[in-house]
Order: sequence, then structure tokens, then C-alpha cells
Amino acid sequence: CGIVGYIGRRQAARIIIDGLKKLEYRGYDSFGLATLNGDISLAKKGGRISDAGSNTAGLSGRIGIGHTRWATHGIPNDQNAHPHLDCTGKIAVVHNGIIENYAELRRDLTARGHTFRSDTDTEVISHLVEEHFQGDLSSAVAEVLPLLEGSYAILVIAEGDDRIIAARKASPLVIGIGDRELFCASDVTPLIDHTRRVIYLDDGDCAVLSCSGCLITTGGEQVSRPVEEVDWDIMDARKGGFAHYMQKEIFEQPQVFYNTVHAVRESPEALAYFVGSRMSLMIVACGSSYHAALLYKYLIESYCDIPVRVEIGSEFKYYAPPLTVPVIGITQSGETADTLAALKMAKAWGCPTIAITNVVGSSVTRIADATIYTRAGPEMSVAATKSFIAQLAAGLQITAFLSDNTALEMELNRVNIMIEDTLTIEVEDAVALCCTAQSIFFIGRGLYYPVALEGALKMKEISYIHAEGYAAGELKHGPFALLSPDTPVIALAMPGKTYPVMISNIKEIKARGAPVIGIGIAGDSELPEIVDLFIPLPPCNEVAGIAMASVMLQRLAYYVADGLGCDIDKPRNLAKSVTVE
Ligand code: G6P
Repeated sequence: CGIVGYIGRRQAARIIIDGLKKLEYRGYDSFGLATLNGDISLAKKGGRISDAGSNTAGLSGRIGIGHTRWATHGIPNDQNAHPHLDCTGKIAVVHNGIIENYAELRRDLTARGHTFRSDTDTEVISHLVEEHFQGDLSSAVAEVLPLLEGSYAILVIAEGDDRIIAARKASPLVIGIGDRELFCASDVTPLIDHTRRVIYLDDGDCAVLSCSGCLITTGGEQVSRPVEEVDWDIMDARKGGFAHYMQKEIFEQPQVFYNTVHAVRESPEALAYFVGSRMSLMIVACGSSYHAALLYKYLIESYCDIPVRVEIGSEFKYYAPPLTVPVIGITQSGETADTLAALKMAKAWGCPTIAITNVVGSSVTRIADATIYTRAGPEMSVAATKSFIAQLAAGLQITAFLSDNTALEMELNRVNIMIEDTLTIEVEDAVALCCTAQSIFFIGRGLYYPVALEGALKMKEISYIHAEGYAAGELKHGPFALLSPDTPVIALAMPGKTYPVMISNIKEIKARGAPVIGIGIAGDSELPEIVDLFIPLPPCNEVAGIAMASVMLQRLAYYVADGLGCDIDKPRNLAKSVTVE
């Protein structure tokens, strides 16, 4: 979910609506806002704020809070949309996170006479604040926070109190400082139109935003947090002539690869953390970042002889033995709850921790001992593209650093050009074949296995066609039973040690009647002969090959989803930043 608050000299509703639109990638199944102008005015609805126009009628006031939702408790509908009010309708709350003990709190509140209007966990907060409110909202909120278990970033307003109370625990919240106005939001994207000066709240912080400024306390004690400058170019977050953010972000990848390689080279202090990890490494991540982590494993093990274990963020907590090895968390947003929880656990065990993230000041940077930044710039489309390529670029540069491999380092200087060449290769026939498919398999071996996993993830999340990534050798252990003329197989048969056995696997698949789209290298004489469609990439070495094949599969997914008329940047049921476990 995403939240926005405003207090200042302008009408709040317009600023909040514009801000929520920028946060939609965090969730977009319903939205709402409340403004304060003596009384509280409320508007909330199921559906997307971007589809709802910009009508602010009936929402006057220079103080307001808003929310765009990714449902956890309660279906997406008007009642469950935030803000949530108390019984009197005089207190309004927006919340990102999960209140884990909400059922118990709700039972007790109901027993004490409170009536609930929604099925959400959040609504308990407004009722609890109501019980504790005696004219001073900040004291009431401060009394309620210790009662809440779980994670939250909340904004609270109340009639009779011209302030916004903001608090966070394990969910992000940032304050923007403008000219006689203050903003708060889940991240900086809604703020950069208005100000570059921001304060990142820490876990446990409670901030009181008023016309006279911002006062931050933690555990009841006043604290001062640094004011930081955001350096993202505002244009980076705009679509700039492309039909979708995803398309724009795919096209940015040559530059992103180049920028990230150079930025990582220039982070010797962070890289130095890896030097102490010559024995073994553990990497945790979710989604596309997990696929990048699998690539790191193949790269670091083969180039540096360091064993690398990779785990999905949400599974890490089920480990019994405490680890002692350095633990790396890869997370584009820096906010994925499962990855953060894993890193915290590793830290508690005494492991050195390293974050690889795209977002300066994100929560992961506050947890890890050291941070390496990828330089993808803001990624708006829910499906990760440029952030994945940036993670790959960082992993390749880390590999070159750890193996002291100057030849590899030199190769990285050319990959951006190879990616550029991939952006114009014809994919029309392959798109047509996939558009009619019931199900698609993506197969590869070695480094191309994680590339296949990521290709399948892209395809399923934006086109809604069932897609599975498989290690090519595993297909015969079950999925062969599913092969048919309606089940295309996309095979990555790039030069290198996996090539001969990939050719054998493709022949086995062909013998079972499935159409095969082969992705290989221009000039290959064998592959085009055995596949139904051949997509030739420019001749390249293995390192450029994984980047080019990844970009090719992103493009394929993009054009298939576009051909099927899907909502590419905001696929159903998903969110870009998943801040709940
Ligand atoms: C969500 C996004 C994915 C992303 C994953 C992990 O599911 O939709 O694109 O890969 O979260 O996000 P992170 O920010 O931790 O890389």
C-alpha cells in the first residue's frame, strides 16, 4: 500500500490525489482520502485512483491524508478502502502494513461497544485512538502504538487538532519539507514534484506535523533526524512518450547497466565487505531479485570459487541453524518485508549483512552493515526490468572484483552496447505464437536457468498466460506430460558449455510435438534447423549473453501482454513493493 499526507498553505486534496497516483505501484485495488477543515471530509472507493479522475469536490482543507491499497485483510471494496474512521467519524487513519493482533483488539473493542464498518485490520487503530483521545491527538496515538503488534506506517488526523500524526514500525515513511508545507509518504516519488528535502523516519519514530514544523520522537524522547537531498531526476519517474512505463524502462537498460557497473566500481568501501566473505556467502531475495540472486550464485561460484547459498526471503526464517557467513539481501525497493526480516534475523545471529538496493534511504539500507546501490533510477512498472538488469550489472562487477578478473571487467564495458542491439530485434512471429498459447515453458541451463525463470515470471505476471521456468534437464521429469502443440517452449541455446545438451533437449521436446522458439546467436547453423522459430542475438560472450537473453524475454513478455490488451504496468492482484510478510 501507499500513503500520502499533506499539511500546509495549499488545498490538500489535489496534492494527495496526485501523490497517490505516483504510489499506485505499491497497490491499486482501492483508494481514499480524508481532509480536515474543521470537520473531516472523506472519499474512498474500490478501484484505481488513476481511473477515478481528479474530482476534489467536497474535500476542502489544508490538511489531509490518503491511501492506495493492496488488500491484505478484507476484499478490495469501498468499505475496506482507507482512510478508516472511528465511531464518531472525527478521527481518520491510513495505514500500510499488517496489525497482527487485530482480531483480538477488535474483539475487545467490540465488547466495549465499538462498531466496525470494514473487515480490515487497520480499523482497530482509529477505534483505539478514539478511546485514548482526550483533546491531544499525539498523546492518544503515542498510547495506542504500544498496543499494536505487526508492522505499520500510519497517518492520523482528528477534528479539533490541526496536525498530522505519523508513525512507523517496519513499514517505510518519509517526510518532505517544503516552503511552509510538509508532506509525508511511503516513499519519495510523490514528494519530488514539491521538494527535494526529506527526512526518512526510523523504526519506532513518531512525527507530529504541524504548521510550525515537524517534531520527531522515539520512545517518548525527542530526536533529530538528518534532512537529506533527493537526487532523482523527476523525469526518470515519467513515461516520456512510451506507451507504458515497462517499455520505457526496458529501453533505459543500456544506460542502467553502464551506470550501475560504474557506480559499483566506485563503491570500494561497500565492496570491501565482500572481501571478508571468501569462505562462503548467503543471498536472500524475493521475486525478480531472487532470480538475480541465482545468477550471482552461478557467477560467484564459477568465477571466484566461493560457495554461495541462495534463499527466498520468506523461507529464510525457517532455518534452524544460526549462520555465521555474510548475508546479502538483494531488493530493488529496499522495502520487501520478507527480505528485510531475513536480514534482521541474520544480523541478530551476528552475520555481516550487505544490501544491494536501488532506493537510497530505503529500509534495507538502515538494517545492513553496508549497501551497494544499483543505478536503475525509479522503476514504476510493477514488473521489474531495468532493476533486474542493474542487479545483474552489480553482480557481474562484484564477481570481477572478487575474482580480480580484469578481462571480465573489460567485457562489462561493452555489455550496454550489446543490450542496445537487442532492443530492435524482430520478435513478431514469436509474439504471435505465444499470444495463442495455453501455457509456455522457458528452459535454460547453467546461467541461463535463472534467465529462464525470470522470463517465465515476466510472461505470467503481465500477460496472465501460465508460464513456467525450468532447468532444461528437468523437463523430462514431469512437465513432458504437458507438452502439446499449444504449449510452446522457449529454449535458451546460447554458445558455451550448455549448448550441446540444450540442442539434445530441444530435439526431445520437438519429438513430443511442442513448438520451440530457440533463442541463440546469429550465424548458428544448427539451432535454426531444429526449432520452429529462431530469434538470433548478436554474437557475444556468456556475460553479455545473459543480459541480452534477459532483455529479449522481457520484450517478448511485453509485446505478448500488449497484444492481449493487458494492463502492463499494473497487472491484476500484484504490487511493486510488498511490505507485508
Ligand atoms: C514484487 C514485485 C517484483 C519484485 C519483488 C521483490 O513482487 O512485483 O517485481 O521482484 O516484489 O521486490 P524487491 O523490491 O525486494 O526487489
